Amino acid sequence: MRNGPALKVEGLETGYGEVQILWGIDLDVPYGTLTTILGANGAGKSTLLRAITGILPLWTGKVSFKGKEITSYAPHTRAAMGLIMIPEGRMIFPEMTVLENLEMGAFTKRARGKMRENLDYALSLFPRLKERLDQRAGTMSGGEQQMLAIARGLMADPRVLIFDEPSLGLAPKLVIEVFEAIQKLKEEGVTMLLVEQNVHLSLAITDYAYVLAEGRVVMEGKGEELEESEEVKKAYLGV
Ligand SMILES: Nc1ncnc2c1ncn2[C@@H]1O[C@H](COP(=O)(O)OP(=O)(O)O)[C@@H](O)[C@H]1O
Ligand SMILES: [Mg+2]
Repeated sequence: MRNGPALKVEGLETGYGEVQILWGIDLDVPYGTLTTILGANGAGKSTLLRAITGILPLWTGKVSFKGKEITSYAPHTRAAMGLIMIPEGRMIFPEMTVLENLEMGAFTKRARGKMRENLDYALSLFPRLKERLDQRAGTMSGGEQQMLAIARGLMADPRVLIFDEPSLGLAPKLVIEVFEAIQKLKEEGVTMLLVEQNVHLSLAITDYAYVLAEGRVVMEGKGEELEESEEVKKAYLGV
């Protein structure tokens, strides 16, 4: 059943209009691991996630999910298979309650069938949301809204959960909370692909990381290996 990694990208190239952004990207996300893509602003991280989730067509290369090539599949088909992205900027519905937002997360047929179970699971991971089920989502703090976005992702019954800069724009204390939540999911065995600019926190919890610069993978390795690499820090991460 589990032939190879949960998600596999091979020789991926794409861009916008005539402008090529990504060049020959190879990347694996093994089952039950946290894989991270690091890179400065404009490196092409979000573009890569758009290509993986099917929002942006590939020019060349392949995307495989659970051992099946999905390069030509529509975004909603990929989502129905369990490839779920929590987009940059959270995208919660501010006028709706926390519970309504969570219910919106169960948008695939499979997820609707497991709604109760996934709700219990998401609320056990984020007890703070449990106390706020009837509160309008827009009145919560930025950190709570990010927890809601993650919990809503879990409501979609993901096989691979993708995060695009979940700590962006959050106060330092809330950044820590978001990383703790991701760490918790990792301990639960959830397969995840994380895009981040927060080098230290993500390398501390990731199994494996890729460094993206100007649309190319310029370095990759285990979290602890990259954490120790001065070259990574100086050349690509600006820290
Ligand atoms: N919708 C778009 N149309 C044209 N160019 C875009 C679009 N989105 C991003 N880009 C360009 O693609 C490059 C990579 O952007 P992006 O993938 O958002 O980087 P990152 O997420 O790493 O900050 C940038 O040069 C950016 O200006
Ligand atoms: Mg981005």
